[in-house]
Amino acid sequence: MWATDAPYLATCRGEVGPTPPVWFMRQAGRSLPEYRARKGTLNILDALRDPALVAELTLQPVRRLGVDAAILYSDIVAPVAAIGFGVEIRSGVGPVVERPFRHESDLDRLRPLVPEEDCPWQADAVRLLAAELEVPLIGFAGAPFTVASYLVEGGPSREQVRTRTLLRARPDLWAALLDRLADLALASLRSQVEAGAAAVQLFDSWAGSLSAPTYRRHVMPASRKVLTGLADLGVPRTHFGVGTGELLGAMADAGADVVGVDWRVPLDEAAERAPGKVLQGNLDPTALLAGPDVLETEVKAVLEAGRAAPAHVFNLGHGVLPEADPDVLARVVELVRAG
Ligand code: CP3
Repeated sequence: MWATDAPYLATCRGEVGPTPPVWFMRQAGRSLPEYRARKGTLNILDALRDPALVAELTLQPVRRLGVDAAILYSDIVAPVAAIGFGVEIRSGVGPVVERPFRHESDLDRLRPLVPEEDCPWQADAVRLLAAELEVPLIGFAGAPFTVASYLVEGGPSREQVRTRTLLRARPDLWAALLDRLADLALASLRSQVEAGAAAVQLFDSWAGSLSAPTYRRHVMPASRKVLTGLADLGVPRTHFGVGTGELLGAMADAGADVVGVDWRVPLDEAAERAPGKVLQGNLDPTALLAGPDVLETEVKAVLEAGRAAPAHVFNLGHGVLPEADPDVLARVVELVRAG
């Protein structure tokens, strides 16, 4: 079990320590040989049903890298899969939906999530991890917009044309879809925290395809429902998206304690766009592929810019790339600790 004053938790609450805590989005998986060895060809959605395996895959990067937080091994589509919407995750592709969300009648396929019945293995994994871990466990969910984009498009999509069309053409149906997805995310996050997760992150990875006014009108109410619906649990809430430079102000208004920033906006500038918020980020994931000198320069620049925020959680600007060398990730941890 971790301490309540663990550096990651203290920093999320706005306390500034000697150096920022560090963890990496997508630290489990892809880039780790021990992950590939342990998981084999098992599909991630099947792997999630095995709490001991989930605990092991969550612990692997913590052991190897000595990061300040663990993130539960799961996926943003796990809740929709658990209620039987018909989602699979194809390796190298991402989530693929058998029958995409297109009509009013598809709302009936999005019933409420009852975690203790639909995915009891998840709370079991969280309990195992809470007992084992010495650093805080971060639970997570996909934000309503990003999950909706998979359900509406049927799979990964660069421009989210159908999604952006639906929210304009059928704002009523869109609002009903997002409200159901907010309830799913909230039920999943509450159950993760009740089982022992110390913090949560809401991933709105693809929100960057929206303008700020569109985000505020069609997306923020649902994300706010998730984030404020956790307030009574007293755990730090981080809200992250990619390409969201123009949305940082709006995301800061949605109810989170920490705003995640991708690599496109330096943290000192992000601090102006999201005033008063603790910031998380934002090393460009490709800096890990560019050689030791570039890496050191860029880590130092992120640390320096991060001092403009009330407090700073060091991370990448998005997930670890599959081609990243784990030894280079370990070097980042070392550089951050050196300050
Ligand atoms: O270490 C961690 O961060 C833990 C777990 C984690 C996974 N997915 C495991 C996973 C987290 C936090 C996610 C979130 C997730 N999933 C997001 C938000 C974060 C982001 O990257 O923006 C998104 C958009 C997804 C959807 C998704 N699931 C994608 C794009 C992929 C990758 C497809 C591929 O293979 O390239 C997945 C599958 C997935 N999720 C894998 C893992 C470890 C790979 C599956 C495997 O190893 O079989």
